[in-house]
Amino acid sequence: MTTNNIPSLEKKIFLAALVFIMVQLGFIAYSVYKLGIRVPTCATLKPYTKAEIITLAPDRYEIHLLARMWEFEPSHIQVPKGSVVDFFITSEDVTHGFYIDGTNINLMVVPNVVNYAQARFDKPGKYNIICHEYCGINHAQMHAVIEVTESTATARLP
Ligand code: CUA
Repeated sequence: MTTNNIPSLEKKIFLAALVFIMVQLGFIAYSVYKLGIRVPTCATLKPYTKAEIITLAPDRYEIHLLARMWEFEPSHIQVPKGSVVDFFITSEDVTHGFYIDGTNINLMVVPNVVNYAQARFDKPGKYNIICHEYCGINHAQMHAVIEVTESTATARLP
């Protein structure tokens, strides 16, 4: 290799790096805009002590969940299909997990911390919620369910 070739080689490496960066940015844009994946964040909320479903609009809900050994409250949630739901969750005792089957939602549930994630439910059916962090003898029994209904009735705690 002569010294004359070096600038051209550098150009190729620079171009390859540029293409690599553009492809990576493309993947990030695809995951955000096409797949709807969001990085879970720690909500800057004071931990609450009451579980509730707040209806913001006919298809917009905010759900404040509580996790404790060995249940979620509410344990059975109904929302109409097409709903966008903001989930806030905190723990009353130890660290739990919060995974909603069939969605991208997978959070740690930590005492004195409120974690947040958003999901849109377009397909009617039952979505199981499970605790995926070992939290004691009945960890395997710690689950809840979200029922997405065909109707456009408002969400409720059955
Ligand atoms: Cu809660 Cu495992």
